[in-house]
Parts: sequence; structure tokens; C-alpha cells
Amino acid sequence: MLTVPHTTNYLTEHFGDDAFTTLEGYRARGGYEAAKKAISEMSPADVIELVKDSGLQGRGGAGFSAGMKWSFMPTDGDQPSYLVCNADESEPGSYKDRILLERGGHQMLEGILIAAWATQADTTFIYVRGEYAFPADQLDRCVREAYDAGLLGENIFGKGFKHDVVVHRGAGAYICGEETGLLESLEGKKGQPRKKPPFPAQFGAFGMPTTVNNVETFSHVPHIVKNGADWFKGFGTEKSPGTMIFGVSGHVVRPGLYELPMGTPLDEIVFEHAQGVPEGRKVKGVIPGGMSMPILPAGMLDVPMANESLRERKTMLGTGGVMVMDERTCMVRAACVITYFFRDESCGQCTQCREGTGWLNKIVERIERGAGSEGDIELLLDVCGKMEAKTICAFADAAAWPVQGLLRHFREDFEEHVRQKKCPFPESFEL
Ligand SMILES: Cc1cc2nc3c(=O)[nH]c(=O)nc-3n(C[C@H](O)[C@H](O)[C@H](O)COP(=O)(O)O)c2cc1C
Ligand code: SF4
Repeated sequence: MLTVPHTTNYLTEHFGDDAFTTLEGYRARGGYEAAKKAISEMSPADVIELVKDSGLQGRGGAGFSAGMKWSFMPTDGDQPSYLVCNADESEPGSYKDRILLERGGHQMLEGILIAAWATQADTTFIYVRGEYAFPADQLDRCVREAYDAGLLGENIFGKGFKHDVVVHRGAGAYICGEETGLLESLEGKKGQPRKKPPFPAQFGAFGMPTTVNNVETFSHVPHIVKNGADWFKGFGTEKSPGTMIFGVSGHVVRPGLYELPMGTPLDEIVFEHAQGVPEGRKVKGVIPGGMSMPILPAGMLDVPMANESLRERKTMLGTGGVMVMDERTCMVRAACVITYFFRDESCGQCTQCREGTGWLNKIVERIERGAGSEGDIELLLDVCGKMEAKTICAFADAAAWPVQGLLRHFREDFEEHVRQKKCPFPESFEL
């Protein structure tokens, strides 16, 4: 029977309730019943089928099917296998995982336990962003509570299943969110992404088969096991089911996190939930999915926040970090901030990325100073083209996309700087 959803914010439903953060409070609200059901009544293959059927897409940026990823894990080998929970969350504009760690640690751990059963993984490493000290402390406490209650460790639910969880704190590098950079860092090496193939399902943490999923991806799983795939598909769009936690920041009256069905129109998020720009000013542009995603101009905000529809507008859902810029914003200054970040965070292994990020930053700063030439705009596009799809990881693409987006929709801002030999937006934010 299809369970009728009584709320569209099932992930964050209890987040105002302090008791939900404790094991006792979580269990009193039905917590760990889904894990018990999965481990006691379902085979690992059944759980994978269920999650595949639900259509759950990874919420860490790429939107890959979670069930499909789990099915790549070998379950018959003698060697250990691992899960990694990616809690690095360093994408500017993204802060949904922080609240899931702070307020929903047990919900995420339950999702991890179900995924561990499905993939028959021995250990999960939770890699937490270095700056997330309080969320990591909350998580440590949840892990201790789960061990004390026999929900982690040996013979879980009396079914002979064993699983361990290790919380690992990062040291604050954006590139350690890229899954193979993360694995290197977890192993105690420099966080430099690996060449693929082999993919983590064949050669992951410590050389063993590994599945990496995002904090939010794991957090959806108990709800799917509890309520079924059809229930989950009752939210969102046909291709992008479920809800997502959208983090709104920038020039809005009510910045914050909003859990809404996938496919919610971007203009509804900006103007209804976040209540639009203060003091009646107009929106100039919105980055829909975290800083590495291409910007959309004010006239294109009637787009559903789902992977398939955003791709049609040459941008992506990413991590759902919605960054709003009002009409006073200088898009060349925005480009200066964005390119500075990527120049600083490149791991330096690939020439196109190491040099390209520096070039992009140098050129946009030159244009902002009023020292740019007409050829600089074409040069920016040329450098972006030389960075895309040519490097070890997608960081270089993520550095090029926002510049391409700014030039696609706000080229006249750049041209005006060149013509006037100064920044024509005196009311914009300071650099
Ligand atoms: C430069 C870069 C940074 C990334 N940072 C993160 C991150 O902070 N958190 C995250 O979950 N995924 C991040 N990813 C995506 C991961 O590589 C990986 O695809 C993801 O953790 C898989 O989880 P999912 O399938 O549940 O989304 C990043 C990718 C790239 C290229
Ligand atoms: S693309 Fe950039 S961040 Fe990724 S491996 Fe190459 S140099 Fe490092």
C-alpha cells in the first residue's frame, strides 16, 4: 500500500526538536526501525533493488543513482570492503550537510547501516570537513551512543552482521571533497585526486572496494526503506525523485535551508521561501547549485530545480546551494571572487588546472581594475575551453563553468569594464 506523505520535509521534520539528536529521542520517533527491517527481513540484493527502484540520486553534486553505485560493490570476495560518507562539504554556498550532521546524526548513521548491509561493507569512514568541529563532535556522540546500544559493532540486531564506523576529521581543503582526493587524504597522504579507472568500487580506501556517498544521500535511505520506493517517488519529478535541502544565501530577506521536493521552481525558492531581495531591489542573477555551477539571469528563474531541467539551461543542480545576487552586483567582481577561490584550491597536479585557474583569476582581476582589453573576453573563453574535460578530476571543469556562465549571461558587464576602463558598478560589494 502506498503511504500518503503527511509532510514534504521528512528529512528535517524533527530538526527543531533537541531530543531527535539523541539516540533515545530518535528511537522514540521510530529511529533504527528501518535498519532493523532491512537487516532482519531483507537480503542485501533486495535493499539495493529497492533503492535503485526509488530513483534516489546522489546529493553530493553529480546526481548518480545511489542504488546503481551500491550494485557495483563485490559482495563475494574475501577482502574487506568499505563505505565512505562524504561530509567534506566545502562548496561555497552549500551548508545542508552541516545541519544534517548537527541535528540528524542518527538518521544519517541509520542510512549508513542500511547501505552497509546492502553492500556488505565492513567499515564506514565518515570524512568530516576540518572546519566542522561542532558537527563532528555531535557525530562522535551519536556513534558512541550507537555502539553502546549494539547498533554498531558485532552481531547487530542479533543477525550476525558486524559493522564499524570511524569518524575522520579533514584539515580544510576543498579538493578533499572530490572522492578520490578524499580517499588519499583518509589514507594520510596529500589530498590529490587519483586517475580513474580504477574506480573506488574496485580500488578505493586502502586499495579495497569502496562506495562513497554524500551525507544527504545516506540520510534519505531510512525513509525509503520505511515507506517504500513509490512513496519516495511521490515527491519531486519523475527523473529526480525525493526532496532536497536547498541552502539559500546572498541578497535575500530570509536566507536559510529549505527542504523541498526536487523540481521546485527556482523562483519559488528565491521569492516565496527566501522572500526575495531586501528593500524591493531586483534580482540580477542566481547560482542554482553551489559556486561551481553556472549562473542564471533573472529571466531564467522559472526553472524546476532538478538535474534534467537545469541541464537544459546549461547549468546544474550541484549541491542545491542557491546564491542570489541583486541588481547592484558587479559580475566581474563576482568572477574575481570565484576564480580566486579555485586558484587557491587547485591541488596542482594537472597543468590545465594549476595554470588555467591562475590565468582566469589574473584576467578577470585585470578587467576589474580597468586594465583589460577587448581580447581578454575571448581569452577567458579560450582558457576555459582548454580546462574542461581534460584533467584528472572535475575540479578544473568546476572552475571553468562559472566563468563561462557569467560570460554567457553577463558579457556586457565585462565589456563595459573594458570600454570605461573602470568598474561601472560603484554600489556593488567590495572586493
Ligand atoms: C572538486 C570536487 C569537490 C567535491 N566536493 C564534494 C563534497 O564536499 N561533498 C560531497 O558529498 N561530494 C563532493 N564531490 C563529489 C564527490 O566526488 C562524489 O561524487 C560524491 O561524494 C558521491 O556521493 P553521492 O553519489 O551520494 O552524491 C566533489 C567533487 C568534486 C569534483
Ligand atoms: S583538475 Fe585540478 S584539482 Fe583536479 S587533480 Fe587536476 S590539478 Fe588537482
